[in-house]
Amino acid sequence: MAHSHDGHGRSGIAIIGCGRISRSHLAAVAAQPDLATLVATVDSDLTLATQAAQRYGARHAFDDIDEALSRDDIDAVVLCLPNHLHASVAIKAAQAGKHVLVEKPMADTAADAIAMAEAAEANRIVLAIAQCRRHFRAIRYLADHQADFGKLISVQVSLGVYWPDAQAPWWREADKASGLVVALNGPHVLDFVQMVMQADPVRVHAEAVRRNHFWAGEDEAMMLLAYPGRRLASVHLSFNQQPVENRKVLVYERGTAVVEHDTHLTFNGETLVARSDDEHRHYLDEAVEFQRQFREFALAIDGQPNRSVSAQEGIRLMRTLDAVHRSFRSGDTVVLDDVTHRTDTVDATP
Ligand SMILES: NC(=O)c1ccc[n+]([C@@H]2O[C@H](COP(=O)([O-])OP(=O)(O)OC[C@H]3O[C@@H](n4cnc5c(N)ncnc54)[C@H](O)[C@@H]3O)[C@@H](O)[C@H]2O)c1
Repeated sequence: MAHSHDGHGRSGIAIIGCGRISRSHLAAVAAQPDLATLVATVDSDLTLATQAAQRYGARHAFDDIDEALSRDDIDAVVLCLPNHLHASVAIKAAQAGKHVLVEKPMADTAADAIAMAEAAEANRIVLAIAQCRRHFRAIRYLADHQADFGKLISVQVSLGVYWPDAQAPWWREADKASGLVVALNGPHVLDFVQMVMQADPVRVHAEAVRRNHFWAGEDEAMMLLAYPGRRLASVHLSFNQQPVENRKVLVYERGTAVVEHDTHLTFNGETLVARSDDEHRHYLDEAVEFQRQFREFALAIDGQPNRSVSAQEGIRLMRTLDAVHRSFRSGDTVVLDDVTHRTDTVDATP
C-alpha cells in the first residue's frame, strides 16, 4: 500500500486525463497544499499533460498511465478519463496500491463497479466517486436538514442543457458514451435522488431518444422511479434545452423545497441557502466545490470521517443506471424488487 505520503501527511497525487473536467480537479489539489502535492499529470496527449503540469505546478507529465502508477511518490490518483476507461484504470490503480477518486459515472455497468470495489477492498485503498454536486452548499444543507421538512413524498428533477455538438470526441460513439445524456448527466441527477430518498428504486421506467446527428447515443430522456414507502421520482434530462434548466422540486410532508442550479435552496418560498459569490464559476472552470470534494477524499485517505461518495453508494447508483438503460432499450418497466411499494405501510399514518 502506498500510504507513505510525503512525511507531512500530504498525499502525492496524479491527475489522470487532462481534458475538460481536469482543471477543476487540478485547481482543487493545487489550492490545498496542506492536503496534497500534485506530483504528476497524465494524458495520452502529452501536450495536454505538459500544459496542465506547468499551469498547476506538477513535477512530472506523462503520456503513459503505467508510468504514474509505478511511482512511490504517488499515493492517489484522480481519474478524469472517458467513461469507458474508468473501471479498467481504477482496478489497475488499486492493484498498484493507489487510492482512487473516479469521475462520474463510476463505470459503464454495475458489474464493472462491483469489480472496482472488490479491487479496492483487496488492495485496501480508498475508492471514492466524484459526484461533485454533493459538495455544493445547498445540496449539503438539504442532505443535513431534510429531516426537518417531514417525510419526503416525491422528487422532480430537470437537468436540461444545450450542446450544439459533441464536447469530447468519445461522446460521438455509442460504445464509449452509452445512452449519452443518461451516462453523462444521469449520474448527477440520480445520485441526488438516491441521496434524498436514502433508498433504491423498486421500479424504473425510462424513455430516451436521439434527436441530434452529432452522436450515436440518446440526447433526450425521461424517467419515472418508484421508491419504497409509496414515494415517487421523475427525471428529465436534455442536451437540447435552452436556456439551461437545473431544477429540483421536493415535496415533503411539511412543504416544498426547491433547488435551483444546485446553489439556491428554498423551503416554502423562504431562502435557506443563497448562491454565494464563489459559486458563480462554471463547473468546468476551477469550481470551488471540487476543493471541498478533494478535501473529503483526503479525509477518507486519512481514515477520518468524511463526506466522500463511497464505492458502495456508487454501486447502488450504477444498479439504478443499469435499470434505466434496460428500460429505455427494451421499452419495459424494470422491476428491481418484489416489494409492492403501493401497499407497504412505511408512512401509513394518516
Ligand atoms: N463532474 C462533472 O460535472 C463532469 C463534467 C464533465 C465531465 N465529467 C466526467 O469526467 C470524465 C472526463 O470527461 P471530460 O469531459 O473531461 O473528457 P475529455 O475527453 O475532455 O478528457 C479526457 C482526457 O483523457 C485523455 N485520455 C483518453 N484516453 C487516455 C488514456 N488511455 N490514457 C491517458 N489519457 C487518456 C484524453 O486525451 C482527454 O484529454 C468523464 O467520465 C465525464 O463523465 C464530469
